[in-house]
Amino acid sequence: MPLVEVKDLIKRYGEVEALRGVSFTVEAGEVFGLLGPNGAGKTTLMRILAGLTPPSSGTARIGGYDVIAERVRAQQHIGYCPQDLLIYEDLTGRENLLFFAALRGIPRSEACRRADEVLKFLGLAEWGDQLVKKYSGGMKRRLNLAAALVHDPDVLLLDEPTVGFDPHARHELWNLLRQLRREGRAILLATHYMEEADALCDRVAIIDQGRIVALDTPEALKRQYGPPTVLAFLLATEISDPLIDIAREFSEEGKVLVCGEELRIYVRNPEAILPTATQRLIEAGARIREVRVAEPTLEDVFVRLTGRRLEE
Ligand SMILES: Nc1ncnc2c1ncn2[C@@H]1O[C@H](COP(=O)(O)OP(=O)(O)OP(=O)(O)O)[C@@H](O)[C@H]1O
Ligand SMILES: [Mg+2]
Repeated sequence: MPLVEVKDLIKRYGEVEALRGVSFTVEAGEVFGLLGPNGAGKTTLMRILAGLTPPSSGTARIGGYDVIAERVRAQQHIGYCPQDLLIYEDLTGRENLLFFAALRGIPRSEACRRADEVLKFLGLAEWGDQLVKKYSGGMKRRLNLAAALVHDPDVLLLDEPTVGFDPHARHELWNLLRQLRREGRAILLATHYMEEADALCDRVAIIDQGRIVALDTPEALKRQYGPPTVLAFLLATEISDPLIDIAREFSEEGKVLVCGEELRIYVRNPEAILPTATQRLIEAGARIREVRVAEPTLEDVFVRLTGRRLEE
């Protein structure tokens, strides 16, 4: 039985259709990504699964329990880590965890044991008795996750858990989530970072405007929807419209993507195009720092499926 089972979920807020018929399952020991831009409906979906808001129609089950009809039982299986921090600044880390454990009805002695366990797991053992207001941003986020873990849930709902992290902290958290996956938990991870979805998720649902537009392993998504190859120019000059126009001439169906300082041209035959494209770009004033033939990314997949960028 899947630990998370979502079927034909629709959610309307007045005129706004935040979810327009979403279905998927998440198994034990799986990290399932919801990858989508702002307003895609990721948080709405999380809130429905956490039993915080009812769907307009459709069903959702956690550990086999319906999130509406059997809400309390469903909630016992869930650790929910919302986008905003839940923890109290004026309590210590340990006090926060004991408080959340008490809310979950965990007896005091077991709560103390679990609090120690999760503090250690998240690298906060030394900090357990310090007030949270002395914590760094990254430590607060880790404690927020600890609060979602204290009752030992088998389903984790993580809403953009690494927003504002530096790359090091992000990789650290990914490793912790991999550990939780090995323990057989099901992890539902909402993110708009394609690298995060690619590096961490076993399967990814690409969600846009309330719909899942594609769902598969990251590899399969890139194979199926990504361009055959990408000719990527890293430029020292600004990527101006005239340069983009030139890039379009060389690309498959005019498909070009600007990612920061990188100009990505979707091509079938990079070796044939490389010399002329390079020459034309230089003639138009581009200073090229690096050229490479790259594999497609989930960002390329998103652009292909929706015609828009994932991150602006
Ligand atoms: N309580 C609400 N009342 C009215 N509209 C809402 C409410 N919550 C969400 N929406 C709308 O539903 C849509 C989906 O929002 P949601 O927050 O689920 O997206 P998201 O994918 O989490 O976005 P983000 O990446 O910005 O967190 C948006 O159009 C949003 O404005
Ligand atoms: Mg959100």
